[in-house]
Amino acid sequence: MQNFEFKNPTKIIFGKGQMQKLAEEIPSGAKILMTYGGGSIKKNGIYESVKEALKDYELIEFGGIPANPEYAGLLEALEIIKKENITYMLAVGGGSVIDATKFLSSAALFEGEEPWDILAKKIRTEKGLPFGTVLTIPATGSESNSGSVISNKITKEKLSMGGPGLFPQFSILDPTVVKSLPQRQIANGIADAFTHVLEQYMTYPADAYLQDRFAESILQTLIEVAPRVMQDPGDYNAAANFMWSCTMALNGLIQKGVPTDWAIHAMGHELTALYGIDHARTLAILTSSHYQYNFEKKKAKLAQYAERVWGVAQGSEGEKANAGIQKTDEFFHSLGIETKLSAYVDDYSKTAQEIAARFTDRGWLGLGEHKDISPEDVKKIVESAY
Ligand code: NZQ
Ligand code: ZN
Repeated sequence: MQNFEFKNPTKIIFGKGQMQKLAEEIPSGAKILMTYGGGSIKKNGIYESVKEALKDYELIEFGGIPANPEYAGLLEALEIIKKENITYMLAVGGGSVIDATKFLSSAALFEGEEPWDILAKKIRTEKGLPFGTVLTIPATGSESNSGSVISNKITKEKLSMGGPGLFPQFSILDPTVVKSLPQRQIANGIADAFTHVLEQYMTYPADAYLQDRFAESILQTLIEVAPRVMQDPGDYNAAANFMWSCTMALNGLIQKGVPTDWAIHAMGHELTALYGIDHARTLAILTSSHYQYNFEKKKAKLAQYAERVWGVAQGSEGEKANAGIQKTDEFFHSLGIETKLSAYVDDYSKTAQEIAARFTDRGWLGLGEHKDISPEDVKKIVESAY
């Protein structure tokens, strides 16, 4: 097992009716910027309950944050933060709203000229404007981690940022929010969380028995609850297990002491930047190609995954590993998610070349747990996902 440090300061407030505790978490006298997305919270009652809980605070709203939050639009919110002397932010939404709020948290205290530099120059955020979240969709884990991903339409980029200053101070996780989610978003949430676990697990054996079993248990739980929550989003226990699995998949715990990959995410973000494909679906497109291409390096973990998560008992290590890849694709299909780029994009013939060129330009010359996946490899992986 590798050496590690672990600190996750986000307070999780989990369960039905926990919104009542919202005001206890925000300092009295705070001047709040409440951020939210395209309006789902106004249809499912979450907006009213947040406003009710915060009626004694001075509060300004910034709504309309789109999926895959966009840099230019966020500069307006940054103006408001500065002009109104906002002291606290509350993100009410999913990964997009929370990531946008993390960007604002960092940008509010950023001393440079151009806040895009935080992303382009990978500037770590040691301290940000404090914020909490009310999660409305289980998926990214952003409610309990310090990462954020922001898009830039002009440069057609989608880049990540982070640092210890960007953990939410608290997150309210009420699984009843799942009830109003469209099927497509439930499927996305399951696939995203599933891939988060895979990115931190499907590498090579590192004698980290507990981390392996944490990871396998999250995968198994997602597999167990997926059909239930897809069929009936009002099934509270299924929704609760789904939500907690998503948070645990990317709150830092399972990646401690083990190698991590994240190449699927790096390539997937490009597919969103180029074509606007939902984040989770980009991952489903790339997963099997990535594992086939890097089969020998990942074979031992692929076989362990097939055995322990999918119960594949027969065959050689290689056969089990292959079965693991196939089961993963079948799982995505069971969620109604297509796993080939051609199902999403008509003119895809130059995609692989374009992504490889971008990685070369950015100096991303070695991805994956061995840092040996070159832009040329990326090209081949993306091509085989067509
Ligand atoms: O905008 P509104 O109207 O609220 O609708 C949203 C949005 O259209 C809707 N929605 C959310 N809660 C709902 C609801 N609809 C009905 N009822 C509810 N309770 O769902 C849609 C998708 O929301 P979004 O926040 O975009 O989804 P998600 O949580 O999947 O976030 C995706 C973003 O997070 C980034 C992705 O790249 C993408 O930009 N990621 C962030 C990560 C992180 N910070 O750790 C890690 C991930 O790998 C990922 O990259
Ligand atoms: Zn993801």
